[in-house]
Amino acid sequence: MLLVYMSLTGQTRKFVKKFEWETLELTPDNAFTEIHEPYIVIAPTYEREVTDVLFDFIETANNATYLKGVAGGGNRNFNTLFCFTARDIAKAFDVPLLHEFEFQGTINDVNKLKEQVANLG
Ligand SMILES: Cc1cc2nc3c(=O)[nH]c(=O)nc-3n(C[C@H](O)[C@H](O)[C@H](O)COP(=O)(O)O)c2cc1C
Repeated sequence: MLLVYMSLTGQTRKFVKKFEWETLELTPDNAFTEIHEPYIVIAPTYEREVTDVLFDFIETANNATYLKGVAGGGNRNFNTLFCFTARDIAKAFDVPLLHEFEFQGTINDVNKLKEQVANLG
């Protein structure tokens, strides 16, 4: 499964590298890339303007039809705002919220998300 993500301070990048799967890092320069294969989004949590590249990518061409789910990275100190970006994406595009983790995640987080992806069928 292709992992599409953004990362401002490198935590999400470190998380996705633990999978040894194909990845695509979104930046303002490639946010409007068209995709024709299934993917999941790994979203760090920031205010909406900061995560626009994720929404821009999903809303490009038919990209939303290939989105299979979303996982969120965040910081539990934000309490009820923990991983709200991933929850917003799940709601906006009607896809499952597969997992939430802190910072670069642990091996348990990697295994849980792999299990969730396997269950997508
Ligand atoms: C300005 C700022 C705002 C943040 N807001 C939230 C938040 O509302 N909820 C949350 O769970 N994490 C929040 N975080 C934590 C980041 O989402 C978390 O550190 C994440 O792992 C960063 O990923 P990145 O290094 O790939 O950018 C915030 C971090 C910063 C710097």
